Amino acid sequence: MNRSVLILGASSDIARAIARKFGSEGWSLLLAGRDVELLSRDAADFRLRYKVDVEAFGFDAVAFESHARFWDSLPGKPEGVICVFGYLGGQKVSERNWDEAKKAIDTNFTGAVSILNIAANDFEERKSGFIIGISSVAGDRGRMSNYIYGSAKAGFTAYLSGLRARLSKSEVKVMTVKPGFVATRMTEGMSTPALLTATPQQVAADVMRAYKRGKPVVYTRWFWKYIMLIIVHIPERVFRKLKL
Ligand SMILES: NC(=O)c1ccc[n+]([C@@H]2O[C@H](COP(=O)([O-])OP(=O)(O)OC[C@H]3O[C@@H](n4cnc5c(N)ncnc54)[C@H](OP(=O)(O)O)[C@@H]3O)[C@@H](O)[C@H]2O)c1
Repeated sequence: MNRSVLILGASSDIARAIARKFGSEGWSLLLAGRDVELLSRDAADFRLRYKVDVEAFGFDAVAFESHARFWDSLPGKPEGVICVFGYLGGQKVSERNWDEAKKAIDTNFTGAVSILNIAANDFEERKSGFIIGISSVAGDRGRMSNYIYGSAKAGFTAYLSGLRARLSKSEVKVMTVKPGFVATRMTEGMSTPALLTATPQQVAADVMRAYKRGKPVVYTRWFWKYIMLIIVHIPERVFRKLKL
């Protein structure tokens, strides 16, 4: 059986590692993102490497009005969708510049809701399919250092949770992925603790393992589940003083 997966935000470092993982296991790949040139190069590479069908498509997460057309234009609907795009932005800038705050909210939340609503309705009608959303541990509790991004991810996490409950009746699986620190273009130049920082390849392996096990929510690396358990239980008065 030829299984295919659509990867949204496919030029991201995490997405490219996920694409390799799925490609290496025989999945056909639909790569969608803004940088179609890079995606076309990846498509040619993956086709040769994994002997699977790979196509590249233009997709902009914040061009909401184009999403229905984008979905309709896909040649054959994929069995699953992996939503990876995201924008970290700058917390300090976002506090004073609405355009920057809006970009983080639109990319991490509104854009994801816009395209996944369309995919979800299609999967629900077909009574099959899966959706994997890459959210973040930043959505588990708002921290002063990145709460604009974090709150958009919190919205995305809540959206995926509700969608999972709704689609469970239709045999459609929805999985939430919560990465901690990952060494990618997004975190370039940031000093993240080496022991707590995953590679995109580790994240991709965790995503595949959790997908196969049918998990609803997965932290990657696994220890973030316990770190976040502590973080969310710190009393508010103490949390305020931590300057996290
Ligand atoms: N790295 C981390 O520590 C970390 C931790 C937790 C969660 N995450 C999440 O993991 C996901 C992947 O991030 P990454 O670490 O792999 O970083 P990345 O390489 O910077 O990837 C971000 C991706 O989002 C895409 N994107 C941004 N705005 C878009 C738009 N309007 N339309 C379509 N695509 C858009 C970018 O596309 P372009 O190439 O066109 O710019 C890029 O492919 C993100 O959702 C991120 O929030 C990352």
